[in-house]
Amino acid sequence: MAKSIFLTGASAGLGEGMARGFAKRGYSLALAARSRDKLEVLAEELRRSGAAKVVVYTLDVTDYDSVPRVMGEAAAELGGLDIVIANSGIATATPAGRGSFEAARRVIDTNLLGAMATIEAAVELFRKQGHGHIVGISSVSGVRGLPTQSAYSASKSGVTRYLESVRADVFGTAIRVTDLAPGFIDTAINRNLPSRPFLVSAEKGTEIMIAMIEKQVGFRYVPVVPWTLVALLLKILPTRLLAKAS
Ligand SMILES: NC(=O)c1ccc[n+]([C@@H]2O[C@H](COP(=O)([O-])OP(=O)(O)OC[C@H]3O[C@@H](n4cnc5c(N)ncnc54)[C@H](OP(=O)(O)O)[C@@H]3O)[C@@H](O)[C@H]2O)c1
Repeated sequence: MAKSIFLTGASAGLGEGMARGFAKRGYSLALAARSRDKLEVLAEELRRSGAAKVVVYTLDVTDYDSVPRVMGEAAAELGGLDIVIANSGIATATPAGRGSFEAARRVIDTNLLGAMATIEAAVELFRKQGHGHIVGISSVSGVRGLPTQSAYSASKSGVTRYLESVRADVFGTAIRVTDLAPGFIDTAINRNLPSRPFLVSAEKGTEIMIAMIEKQVGFRYVPVVPWTLVALLLKILPTRLLAKAS
């Protein structure tokens, strides 16, 4: 039987790219996001491209109670789930103290609490199934609090720490945990930024992510080069240089 994936944020960017790549490899897919129309169009394309089965779900991950319900429906439809990818995310870029608390709250609601709701539901399902693979999408921005990115950096650092705890909680079981931390991959989330160093295309970025997910890598920066080195440097960069870089 084909392996099955529940993927949030599947209507655009990295989620859409991963959906295409996994479909070509013959996986069954449950695609979730708020934009139902985009999901329907994508699902139609994927059914033609070789996916074993594709189902779509309207899901707002900040409607936390609906996440386990929708995931349960997807598991019933696909005969269980092998992989859950908590990919939904948004970003803002505003310096602190500029009246952007509401936008910052939405970032935390979506990127951290929405991911936690997805991961929590997945762990519960996988404990019942006896196996499963949880994938979170954090970011290089989570390595260090970056200028104008306070909420985004905090949310992604939170995702990484959360997944570390989950990995310890399920240690010794057949549940695996992967955390992928991309640098800049060309999608709508970063197109308004003034600079996007070491940018890679969405096609290349998602191919790398799929290979890492299939290998169950644990934790990786995406792409590994140069971001593993950049992350190390970011951790020790003096604040005056970090501030200048903005
Ligand atoms: N691209 C990069 O360089 C990069 C780097 C580091 C980390 N990331 C992370 O990678 C993930 C995907 O980002 P992307 O680059 O693909 O961005 P994107 O092109 O803007 O896509 C974001 C996806 O998240 C979904 N989403 C947003 N809010 C949601 C909500 N409340 N409920 C459900 N789905 C929601 C969107 O769908 P709807 O609007 O239809 O709901 C969309 O499918 C994010 O977590 C992002 O932080 C990306």
